[in-house]
Amino acid sequence: MSRPARPIGTPTRGTTGPNRLRRMDNWIVENCADALLAAADPLVIDLGYGATPVTAVELRARLAARVRADVRVVGLELDPVRVAAAQPAADPPGLIFARGGFELASLRPALVRAANVLRQYDESEVAGAWATLTGQLAPGGLLVEGTCDELGRLGAWVLLDADGPRSLTLAARLSTLRSPAELAERLPKVLIHRNVPGERVHDLIHALDDAWRSAAGYATFGPRQRWLHTVAAIRTQGWPILDRPRRWCLGELTIPWPAIAPHRPRHPAD
Ligand SMILES: C[S@@+](CC[C@H](N)C(=O)[O-])C[C@H]1O[C@@H](n2cnc3c(N)ncnc32)[C@H](O)[C@@H]1O
Repeated sequence: MSRPARPIGTPTRGTTGPNRLRRMDNWIVENCADALLAAADPLVIDLGYGATPVTAVELRARLAARVRADVRVVGLELDPVRVAAAQPAADPPGLIFARGGFELASLRPALVRAANVLRQYDESEVAGAWATLTGQLAPGGLLVEGTCDELGRLGAWVLLDADGPRSLTLAARLSTLRSPAELAERLPKVLIHRNVPGERVHDLIHALDDAWRSAAGYATFGPRQRWLHTVAAIRTQGWPILDRPRRWCLGELTIPWPAIAPHRPRHPAD
């Protein structure tokens, strides 16, 4: 019998918390449901669930209730202590916890969520991690990789398929958002160092910030109206916003990857 592949990656801090990934999960329910419904095996991996399994438990509950009752979520962690600690929360076959890294324990999932995992890696490691992860996806599979703050009020994630990145989503709790510039601190690893002049993501954050200032008058009607006018304004300027006002109302914005892709991929030798 062949030995299981050695887990690939570097254990990092396990910070997590209830509902931290609610925004990302709700977006996944809306945008990844078709892939999950079409999958021969509704296998989902929560990669790097952290010190407690709470976000994996929540992901399973949300997907089972709103997309597919027979979804099977596997939480994978590099840290064996975290794998052991999660076992009381297991509910097989719908939810199990095991040791694994970017190689996904040789599983072939329809969907992978990797939240706040790459943040503590070097930017030069992102492309390799993405390639390893997407190389493991089942046909038609998707990867959602991104970051959020500790309470899940600000988040940003990239949607990828086997061909590479498709889109970037920014998401904020509007009632506590002071300005869209706050989202810059939560960009996924591939973009967080690219919020500098000359990079498209920097232009995007600036455009949002300017539009947010211009839309200050709408704050009287609530932060949702202000955000709606902000997103509509940058769309009028030519930013190719993918989603509809129904999603903007939730404090979201999704944009095709080519519109904000870094100009020059960094290489380990840089
Ligand atoms: C900051 S926690 C994130 C927990 C949870 N996903 C969240 O967002 O609340 C990051 C976790 O990812 C794990 N991790 C880091 N690299 C990994 C890899 N290559 N494969 C699996 N887990 C990894 C770390 O051990 C850590 O527990």
